[in-house]
Amino acid sequence: MPVVPIKPKEIQPNEHTKLIDTAKAMVADNKGLLAMDESFPTCNKRFAKLRIPETAEMRCDYREMIVSTKGLNKSISGAILFDETVHQQLKDGTSFIQSLTYNGIIPGIKVDAGTVDMAGHPGEKVTEGLDNLRDRLREYAGMGLRFAKWRAVITIGKDIPTLACIESNAQTLAQYASLCQEAGLVPIVEPEVLMDGDHSLERCFEVTEQVLHIVFEQLYTQGVLLEGMILKPNMIVPGLACPKQESVDEVADATIKCLLRSVPAAVPGITFLSGGQTSELASARLNAMNVRFKDKMPWELSFSFGRAIQQPGLGIWHGEEANVLAAQKALYHRAKCNLAARKGEYNE
Ligand code: 13P
Repeated sequence: MPVVPIKPKEIQPNEHTKLIDTAKAMVADNKGLLAMDESFPTCNKRFAKLRIPETAEMRCDYREMIVSTKGLNKSISGAILFDETVHQQLKDGTSFIQSLTYNGIIPGIKVDAGTVDMAGHPGEKVTEGLDNLRDRLREYAGMGLRFAKWRAVITIGKDIPTLACIESNAQTLAQYASLCQEAGLVPIVEPEVLMDGDHSLERCFEVTEQVLHIVFEQLYTQGVLLEGMILKPNMIVPGLACPKQESVDEVADATIKCLLRSVPAAVPGITFLSGGQTSELASARLNAMNVRFKDKMPWELSFSFGRAIQQPGLGIWHGEEANVLAAQKALYHRAKCNLAARKGEYNE
């Protein structure tokens, strides 16, 4: 006898409509998402490399530089913020949430609390943040945020990932997604298979396929509305230290083959993370997927890049007010490149 999952209390139909509309809007018009939700340690690490002071004021100035980029809304549909940012203001006194909303960019927020070592599983991680999540989500929804993000990481190495690590992360992602939908927020479900290591493209394919199957099984078991969520996966790429680096087209073919096997057609959009690829490669690979498979895909294929959009602009900004316009130009350019990649019209 198959086990029939017991569905949680039905979300009201009008709530369904709101979730579905938001999820669709996040991937509409060939636009994509901008991840600007770096946690304190991650943001500080990037600032430290450029000798930018690691302070709340500098993080605020940097993020103001990003959101006040003129025309960003032509290629960016939504921005993922960090908790610190949603409590900060631009110099004119408006909040980041108000500023984005006013400019037609949907504001969202990272709600996981980062990764920790998984007990009894050397080299593997689990993500924390479920404590008080229901209350936090309610508060975020009340502030005008419309979607959330939770990142799980899966590491490829000798004898890892284990099934225990994949299942544990998948369960947590599904619990998070279910809580988000209850609060009226669209969950971005991000199971990231890391690029670190010397593993092959084939190994990345095998692991990602398994991870996605287990994640969608958990999403189903926990009653998550697939039409009201976004998947944020890695592309299928060889490890950064792998001697064999496949071509852009080979990466595109493997990625789409893997996603067609494992992501239900009900999901409105897939928005890739960049994960340490260069800005140019991330755009070129997304472009190749849209050129080669546009007619075969049941979902919108988009981006939710952090580094691949921000990196050039951050280097130019360098913490100096005088560099703001030049940095914004670089940021605008990368965002526009990814809009082109969604249309299959990008070239370097
Ligand atoms: P990257 O594109 O830099 O990988 O960041 C995306 C992200 O949101 C990671 O959680």
